[in-house]
Amino acid sequence: MRKKNRSHKILVTGVGGFIGSHLAERLVKDQHEVIGIECFTDYYPRGMKEKNIEWLKKQPNFKFHEENLLTADFGKILKVSVSASPSRLPERQLVIFHLAAQAGVRASWGEIEIYTENNIRATQRLLEWAKDNRIKKFIYASSSSVYGDTDDLPMTEGNLPKPVSPYGVTKLAGEHLCYLYSNNYRVPVTILRYFTVYGPRQRPDMAFYKFIRAMFEDREIEIYGDGTQTRDFTYIDDIVAGTISAVDAPDGEILNIGGGTRTSVKDILDVLENILQKKAKLKYVSVQKGDVKHTAADITKARKLLKYNPQGKLEDGLSNEVNWLKSTLTR
Ligand code: UGA
Repeated sequence: MRKKNRSHKILVTGVGGFIGSHLAERLVKDQHEVIGIECFTDYYPRGMKEKNIEWLKKQPNFKFHEENLLTADFGKILKVSVSASPSRLPERQLVIFHLAAQAGVRASWGEIEIYTENNIRATQRLLEWAKDNRIKKFIYASSSSVYGDTDDLPMTEGNLPKPVSPYGVTKLAGEHLCYLYSNNYRVPVTILRYFTVYGPRQRPDMAFYKFIRAMFEDREIEIYGDGTQTRDFTYIDDIVAGTISAVDAPDGEILNIGGGTRTSVKDILDVLENILQKKAKLKYVSVQKGDVKHTAADITKARKLLKYNPQGKLEDGLSNEVNWLKSTLTR
């Protein structure tokens, strides 16, 4: 999607979240008209999400709506905001980035109702609206957690998904819904499977945030299992770049968006000790249900179709997250 192409009107759901706020900022800086929806679920403090969108709310080409996707009147929100003179706009110019979700792999046990509502029903409701309205692209933010626990690495989009957490099951159901609406109603869907995203504004339940904060506060870090589990950690800027380039991807595709290498939790701690110049206090606890041992993204398809080329370097990205967290804790 070209910069400064003002013909695009964009809806970002979950705009107050970690990824949604970064994506919306990039789009606003590129001069698009962006409409953001956020319902402030209580998964983590509202104040953090408010801070994420502080800058956005001051921008003239950004409009914010506090709405729940389960009840929002999309027609009203988008008609009011899309354009003063809709008849002049080319067809299929609305792009939807559907990032809103109930997050948390390990937190999803016993909470299937919240996950079903926010990840399945909300997605279906938005797709229903999309099928009746001409849109250019519907991007669905999915997750590496749909793959499940597998030794078949790297994970390629053709692998049989077998999630091992209720969260993963609901994200996969969202993918299937996208497929249904793409196949039956030609909703121009592209599905992106993000791999463990990190950087400034990371969610407070995620590993890097918890590790950095514990080290700042001289507390113990809980390591789930023995720390040899690996993740294909992906820097936020790469996620944003991959997501925006997916607007021009062929419809109906599923694409992995990963960092391109994987690192163990133990190695992450070494990098952090180096950045912070202090020893981490570790406490080993049992492996958490729903956690997979390894993730590794095969990004061949994204490289080919999106010209996706992740740039994030772990040391730099972690330093950026450290600096951001330091500044928010002392603000
Ligand atoms: C992350 C996100 O939280 C999910 O929302 C997303 O769907 C998923 O990535 C994905 O790739 O699709 P996860 O990989 O569990 O899930 O990310 P972290 O919470 O950052 O955990 C990374 C690793 O650190 C895991 O192996 C976890 O077991 C470990 N960890 C995490 C600990 O050892 N201790 C902790 O306190 C937290």
